[in-house]
Amino acid sequence: MNTYARMPVVFSKGSGVYLWDTDGKRYLDMFSGIAVTTLGHANQSVADVISEQAHKLCHVSNVYGNELGEELADRIDTLVRSGYDQQSLNDPSARGRVFLCNSGAEANECAIKLVRKWKATVSEVTDGEAAPGVILTTEGSFHGRTLATWATSGKSIGNNDYSPLPAGFSHVPYNDIDALEDRMSVGDVSAFLVEPIQGENGVVEPDRGYLAAARSVCSRYGALLAVDEVQTGLAKTGRWFAFQYENILPDMVTVAKALGNGMPVGACWARAGVASAFRPGDHGSTFGGQPLACAAAIATLRVMQEIDAPSRAVHIGSLIDEHLDGAPSVVGLSGRGALRGVILEDDRATEVARKSLDKGLLVNAARPRVIRIAPPLIITDDELKAALGILVSSIEEVFK
Ligand SMILES: Cc1ncc(COP(=O)(O)O)c(C=O)c1O
Repeated sequence: MNTYARMPVVFSKGSGVYLWDTDGKRYLDMFSGIAVTTLGHANQSVADVISEQAHKLCHVSNVYGNELGEELADRIDTLVRSGYDQQSLNDPSARGRVFLCNSGAEANECAIKLVRKWKATVSEVTDGEAAPGVILTTEGSFHGRTLATWATSGKSIGNNDYSPLPAGFSHVPYNDIDALEDRMSVGDVSAFLVEPIQGENGVVEPDRGYLAAARSVCSRYGALLAVDEVQTGLAKTGRWFAFQYENILPDMVTVAKALGNGMPVGACWARAGVASAFRPGDHGSTFGGQPLACAAAIATLRVMQEIDAPSRAVHIGSLIDEHLDGAPSVVGLSGRGALRGVILEDDRATEVARKSLDKGLLVNAARPRVIRIAPPLIITDDELKAALGILVSSIEEVFK
């Protein structure tokens, strides 16, 4: 269907940081399929595991047990809780629970349903009466394109194309803790769903301390804190999850994109006490957690750990700063590690992305003035310098 404004190029193969189009032209990929292919294209270890698993078992459904689903859930739980309270990592009672799905929108859809079920459970609502409870999100946010995740997205504000949207969502300005506190004080909020960095809004970063303050506001008002790490998650900001910069533990964390390095897999993690609101039949997915996708995700996480992906992201971030800070027509850099916004002097990001494409570099215009770059974490220093050189020369040519 006519749902994408496509760039005029068709890719037929990839390897590491490179893609080749159907005419055989080579491109350096700093777009990573919208922050997905963090280990590069056709990663040998991940590809081998996918191939082996495809020959063994792709799918059985969630009607039966699934060793790979359990292993993946375990790994996600360990990563979510790592760095917060190291001791609790060995305490089985501190473990969270994970719902496996196929995309970021589904991970957030699960979080939304779980918030409502949890609210109904804690309110001990009976006889089908709806529990009061607004899910609060932020202006400019993006959480997906299902009807509920679209309703939560700040980007849906003022767009009536899909009316009526599901009710029970409200928005506060991003990076404004007073606005959050004011809205919470009304007393009807059951959860705050927030991105640690607004990726689709142009890699917009809140002040340091925002998430920690949001954590304490949520706790004070008895609301859940759900962090959408679909774009920021899994090492690219320099931590396994971007919320870990603030030494907090959310009640829920959603992840997808980089999880399978290109295989469609997502997850919603929740504290056990919240997750226990779901009963068998409350939520599900035919494909969610299938062995093939889980094998790819386990391999992806294993390789990320082997290469110490968060440290790679920090190093990449410092090279990006070194090369782009003060570059002509670049007025700022946003984001952290290897998930960055390059803020231009005016609204010519689309032209820069197009010029870069011509020169064999993939980047995208996340906003009219912002180029988003999300290089794979396996990129070498030389490849990164080459990519940044092309970007700088594209900017210069567009602004000359
Ligand atoms: C923060 C965030 N949440 C959710 C989504 C939706 O993920 P998906 O496209 O996999 O449904 C995205 C996609 O860009 C995202 O950036």
